[in-house]
Amino acid sequence: MKRKLFTLLLSGLTFGAFSQGNVYKLESGKYEGLAMTPPMGWNSWNTFETNIDEKLVKETADIMVASGMAAAGYNYIVLDDGWMTKERNANGDLVPDPIKFPSGMKALVDYVHSKGLKFGLYNCAGTHTCAGYPGTRGFEYQDARFYANLNIDFLKYDWCNTEGINAKEAYTTMSNALKTAGKPIVFSLCEWGGNEPWNWGKPVGSLWRISGDIYPCFDCEHKHEGNWSSWGFMKILEMRKDIRKFSGPDHWNDFDMLEVGNDMSYVEDKSHFAMWCMMASPLIAGNDLRKMSKETLAILTNKELIAVNQDKLGIQGFKYTAEDGLETWVKPLSDGNWAITFLNRSDSEKQINFDWKNNSIKDADFGYEADFANSIYRIKDLWKNKEFGTTKKSFKAKIQSHDVITLKLIK
Ligand code: GLA
Repeated sequence: MKRKLFTLLLSGLTFGAFSQGNVYKLESGKYEGLAMTPPMGWNSWNTFETNIDEKLVKETADIMVASGMAAAGYNYIVLDDGWMTKERNANGDLVPDPIKFPSGMKALVDYVHSKGLKFGLYNCAGTHTCAGYPGTRGFEYQDARFYANLNIDFLKYDWCNTEGINAKEAYTTMSNALKTAGKPIVFSLCEWGGNEPWNWGKPVGSLWRISGDIYPCFDCEHKHEGNWSSWGFMKILEMRKDIRKFSGPDHWNDFDMLEVGNDMSYVEDKSHFAMWCMMASPLIAGNDLRKMSKETLAILTNKELIAVNQDKLGIQGFKYTAEDGLETWVKPLSDGNWAITFLNRSDSEKQINFDWKNNSIKDADFGYEADFANSIYRIKDLWKNKEFGTTKKSFKAKIQSHDVITLKLIK
């Protein structure tokens, strides 16, 4: 009796609760340190929507390894919306769709792990997911235990059907539930930016979407029935102002999953990839790896560009100049180096003529500076993987419409 009372008191002191006679300690705050560089992987949504199954996942995992993508850094395989049945079971648990996943979700997670990769799932803070499957609202701790038992590594948590609830509270509850369940899981907030997760998301998750959904086009707005739009990558790139200071190691602004290999031209795919690298966005491929062209694979596995994205300083780049459709974007890198991308967003070819010594770049948010009048950098073209001179001489090149040239300036 005395011991029971003592346990009760102790659990009260540690804000614990009882579960099946055991002390069940409630934890709070995200798992720290799970995403010190922007997460890289693959997600099913952009190509397959809810048409997913275990064969697709296994083939994707196999190709991720065989193609060299895993070696280049892609390690998460994330199943988006549509992996469940439309109802929870009698215990209130989520049910992986037995037709899509006849061997069971645990076997699939184990398969992906056996390839040296990590596994992610999707759900939603609302009553239902965006595609109408059971949402987590009211089941946060139960679902977190379900994911921990499956041994998954990543949870994307969406924002459909959330009328009347507070975003910060809803995401914090799920974050605490994951922490309490005891398995380190990267928590990926998919709130689209309306509630400004960059202002409160750092203790809650490792990345947060900053926009509505991406669409495979350069700069279009794609309107859907029901009054919502998805966005070309240039639209997302410029949708939010002044939020780069909120992004960094373990708390990334997420510009949405990649559309490389999904219908855009080769140069647009290059530009999309380069800009996601410049912005230190998570790099989550969204194409069908089984049908990927050599060019698509070469873009996705460009080691030099990936190194810009994964640079340990973890600083999001910014636009430095824009003139007549020709822009320069810059990103401070570790060791005093910089990445600079020339981006031609106009419809015609342009001539670049960049005189370094008349330029001095100042990063007002993080305090980095590159003064080309007083210091000289070596230059490497990251698409050609070639060093070619220094900032003593002006950089001159032709650049096609919608194309990019990305250079690394080495101090
Ligand atoms: C939302 C998200 C997408 C995707 C779908 C799934 O639109 O923003 O990334 O997860 O839901 O229904």
